[in-house]
This record gives sequence, C-alpha cells and structure tokens, in this order.
Amino acid sequence: MILTFEQEKRIIQTLLKKLNASGEEAGIVAEVLGEGDLRGFGSHGILRLPYIIRGIKRGTIVPQSKIKIVKETLATALIDGNHGLGHHVAVQAMKLAIEKAKKHGIGAVGVFNSNHFGIAGYYAEMAIKENLIGIVITTTDPLVHPWGGVEPILGTNALAVGIPAEPIPILMDMATSVASRGKILEAMKKGQKIPEGWAIDTEGYPTTDPEKAAKGALSPFGGVKGYALSFILEILAGSLVNAAVGKEVHGTLEPKSFCTKGDFMIALDPQAYTLVEEFKSRVKNFIVELKTSKKAPGFNEILVPGEPEFRTREKRLKEGIPIADEVWNELKQISQELGIDLNYLKDLG
Ligand SMILES: NC(=O)c1ccc[n+]([C@@H]2O[C@H](COP(=O)([O-])OP(=O)(O)OC[C@H]3O[C@@H](n4cnc5c(N)ncnc54)[C@H](O)[C@@H]3O)[C@@H](O)[C@H]2O)c1
Repeated sequence: MILTFEQEKRIIQTLLKKLNASGEEAGIVAEVLGEGDLRGFGSHGILRLPYIIRGIKRGTIVPQSKIKIVKETLATALIDGNHGLGHHVAVQAMKLAIEKAKKHGIGAVGVFNSNHFGIAGYYAEMAIKENLIGIVITTTDPLVHPWGGVEPILGTNALAVGIPAEPIPILMDMATSVASRGKILEAMKKGQKIPEGWAIDTEGYPTTDPEKAAKGALSPFGGVKGYALSFILEILAGSLVNAAVGKEVHGTLEPKSFCTKGDFMIALDPQAYTLVEEFKSRVKNFIVELKTSKKAPGFNEILVPGEPEFRTREKRLKEGIPIADEVWNELKQISQELGIDLNYLKDLG
C-alpha cells in the first residue's frame, strides 16, 4: 500500500478523534508519525498507531489530559505530562523551551509521565524553525546492555540535535543502539540472520541469530563510547526529570501501565553568542569544507546529518509512503472495530 502524507495524516487523525483525542492532539500525532514515515524512520511512523490506540483503550494513554508545570525558573521547567499523548506533550515542552530561549538565551525543559513520542528530530526541528538550536533526549524500556554487561538495562535512548543552517538544516537524529529491536523482530519474521554487532545472546556472546538476540540484549552503537553516551542520556532524561531509569522504565514498547520514561528538551539561541546570520554563515562554510574534502574509496559525496532523511522526505512527498501489508491489515482491523471504513478514508484523496 502506498499512502500520501495527507492520506496517512487523515487516517491517524480520524482514528484518534474517534477515541476522544482533541483535534489539536490528533493533528500533532498525525504530523509527527507522518514525518517519521516520510523520513524513512518507519519504526516511528503509522506502525506505532496501534500501540497508541491500545494505550488509549487501556487508559494508560489519556487523551485531553492537561500537562502541569511542576517546577519552573526563567530558563528551565519540569513538566508532568499527565499521561497524555507523547507527541502532544513533547510539542508543548519544546514550545516552552523555545519561549524561554527567546527570552533568556536558553530553555531547558524536562518531562515525566508522558508517552512514546516518535522521532526525536521533529522537536529539534521546531527549534530550527525559530532559528534556534534544538537538543532532544528521550529514554525507552531497557533493551541495551551496558559495556561489559549482559542484561538489557539501558534504553535505545534517542538523541536529536538540530542546527539552523542553509540550504538545509543539520538534523542529527539517532538511537544509541546499533539497531532497533524492530529490525531484530523483522529479521526473525523473515527467517534472516542479523549482522554481527547488533546484539548479544543471554550469555553475552555476539549473535547473528535474531531469536537469541531478542532474548538477549541490543548492543550500544560505537562500542564503549556509545554506552557512555547512552548512560548520560538516561540520567538527563531520567533521574534529572523525575522519570525512571534502567529496569524501572516501561510503557514505551507496550502501554500496559502508565509509561515511566522521560524527555529532556533544550532550545538554545545562537544570538546569545553571535549574530544568527553570522552563525549560519560559519556553519555553511564548514559544510562546504566537509563536502569538498577528499572522498574515501567507494564514496562520491559526503552528507551532513539529516541529509539522507531530507532526501527520502522529498522523494516520498512526491511518490508516497510505502506501508507494509501487515501494518495496513492491522489498521483495517482496528478501524473496523471503531466503525471506520479505512479504504473510504484513504480514497477521500
Ligand atoms: N522515541 C523514542 O523512544 C526513540 C528511541 C530510539 C530512536 N528513536 C528514533 O528513531 C529514529 C531512527 O534512529 P536511528 O538511530 O535508527 O537513525 P539512523 O541510524 O538511520 O540515522 C542516525 C543519524 O545518522 C545520520 N546519517 C545517516 N547516514 C548518514 C551519512 N551518510 N552521512 C551523514 N549523516 C548520516 C542521519 O541523518 C541521522 O541523523 C530517530 O528518529 C530517533 O529519534 C526514537
């Protein structure tokens, strides 16, 4: 199935509104999931909608709940997300960080009692659109082993950093595991092996067998340095912001109970240091230096972080978003249960 961005957003919005989400909430979730699919991050696109719907039905994700600022200074805030839709809570948190950065040079906002929010880069990009630098961190259920350890204790903790630049912004947006759990499960379904380095088995040995990997743990990217980074992210978006860490984090994989993960969002105004146009021009010069430098064998260009996704985005805006049959069939089933005709919705244009 191929969906346009508009079709995908309409489907998500309609289903969520049927489940009591406000127009604003449904619109934001649709936008962020749609952007995930547009950029080629399918594991954080419409594939996540059934998870959200299960959470709403169970009462662990609560539409129309209001966030509460529980602690605040001029440049910081701590938000209780009140178990709202993660994407909507995250947008409000980044908006507050941006507001503070514009007044005071920096805004740093922590979030607890929220839910899985999809692609971290979406919120960093909110800052970019205001000519600010955006930094976004989030935690997940424990899936990744510490360096030298066997048990999954760390999340696949995402880090996004967005930098305003021309002609396209810089947008680093990544998990801190080599691969996602989704990719391991996909290989298992297809009966394929996984590349060495993705995961270890329960005894701590590297494995290429996805079944053993699923029972074991994902490996952090970049060896010991990736582990060190993930550890720090877990503290910033966990212990610091009143959220859980390690094995106490749950609810991002399956919303069985209230989610205990945390988020940390920073907006930083380059104008606190330099003129924004000067900053952009320096970044541009650096990009040119990188792009015109000597290429390694087998490479004919050097990309900047975010560039692969912006290219996929342009292509998919024109050609549509491929949706796997099993995802489409699951959405059909869910729609039927809600009394909605998915094909009719899609064919509205
Ligand atoms: N919400 C959550 O709990 C959660 C958890 C983990 C990951 N995620 C999201 O999953 C998504 C996917 O993460 P990922 O780690 O699989 O991404 P990835 O490995 O595909 O890309 C990571 C980064 O590397 C950059 N990159 C890739 N190829 C490049 C190249 N040739 N030159 C320059 N830069 C290049 C990309 O632009 C991107 O910024 C992200 O949006 C992330 O936020 C979310």
